[in-house]
Amino acid sequence: MRSQGVIVLTSIDAFHAELPRNSHTMEPSAFPALGHRRVPSGGGFTSLHTVAARSGRLSDQIQAGNSASWVADHEVSSCSVCDVGFTLFLRKHHCRRCGHVVCDHCSKARLAVPPAYIQRVRVCDDCAKVLEDEDAAAAAACPGAAAGMLRVHTTPDQAQKSYDSIASIYDMWSSYEAPHVAAGLDALGAAAGETVVEVGCGTGKAAAILARAVQPGGRYVGIDLSAKMLAATRERLAAAAAAAAAAAGDGGASAAVGADGWSLHQADATKPLPVEAGSADAAFLSFTLELFDTPAIPAVLGGLRAAIKPGGRLVVVCMARGGGGGRALKMYEYLHQAFPKTVDCRPIDAAPLLEAAGFEVRAVEARSVAGLPVEVVVAGVAK
Ligand SMILES: C[S@@+](CC[C@H](N)C(=O)[O-])C[C@H]1O[C@@H](n2cnc3c(N)ncnc32)[C@H](O)[C@@H]1O
Ligand SMILES: [Zn+2]
Ligand SMILES: [Zn+2]
Repeated sequence: MRSQGVIVLTSIDAFHAELPRNSHTMEPSAFPALGHRRVPSGGGFTSLHTVAARSGRLSDQIQAGNSASWVADHEVSSCSVCDVGFTLFLRKHHCRRCGHVVCDHCSKARLAVPPAYIQRVRVCDDCAKVLEDEDAAAAAACPGAAAGMLRVHTTPDQAQKSYDSIASIYDMWSSYEAPHVAAGLDALGAAAGETVVEVGCGTGKAAAILARAVQPGGRYVGIDLSAKMLAATRERLAAAAAAAAAAAGDGGASAAVGADGWSLHQADATKPLPVEAGSADAAFLSFTLELFDTPAIPAVLGGLRAAIKPGGRLVVVCMARGGGGGRALKMYEYLHQAFPKTVDCRPIDAAPLLEAAGFEVRAVEARSVAGLPVEVVVAGVAK
């Protein structure tokens, strides 16, 4: 979670950069994902229905993803959906998904149209239906997903660039998370000789503690998508090793955190993890599971489930929905949808997701940060 502090402290520019542009005046060049093919005008008005009549039903074309055309304002004189004539007061608007010109009444929905628009933009009623069906399919592809859980439309590539760019100031932004991470580490109870895997190790707040806890004889495995976040973790581990060696006063011979005791991997956790199956005693995620889009969550949890040995455990610290009713939560969810690059994660109900992925949920500790629910979820793998 990197959003809350960002909102309060530093991100006026970032928010400004994310503000949606006026739907009436946006030019075709701002419409990259769906192509810029113009509907042949034939010298006059070409309605959506005319296009549909030429090559099959509109909804079929949209479903097939082949109907994208940025129709120029001057090519139309009436709404492509309801056919009402445009006037000075009944203005033209573009659907960001299909590119057709529609009236305000037929384009009430504001939805993300990934990958071109991960923030909410104007879409026509037909496209809204397609996008809502896609969301329903995404929820169905994620067993345990609670009703109301939002999507995350940031791609791994965008996430990597984003975290690379904020690595140097991440700790300052996220300092309010520290007590929750600490509570999660307590609940995990990593012990000497264990192998502990952390997904989304970030700048290594937990890494130095975990790497030390599993010594002697254990191993910490940190995984993150961002090379710069990993570099910060590496520095932290090296500093911890040096401090431990100095404290031991033996030049490093009994260093609590030696380089043999940890490894770091730049990897996308939605893909198979760089960890041998059944080799981990425990796994840890803090403020990371809620960054993955709904259909990707089963892959991430499946990878962790495979990595953890029978009798092993998993602790997830995350922003939670906590029943989904609080004002702070609603505001946060609104900001995630309006400014998805800055407010990059959304709260989740982790326990049912973990159960659906084959974990046994043993405890859920409810906490909060500035009125927003946070949970520490402790789960195990059956022996
Ligand atoms: C919000 S930060 C949390 C970092 C750390 N766990 C903490 O509590 O400070 C999320 C981390 O997940 C990483 N991440 C995002 N997407 C990822 C992916 N697909 N695979 C692996 N790591 C990812 C980011 O680079 C970032 O370091
Ligand atoms: Zn209309
Ligand atoms: Zn449309």
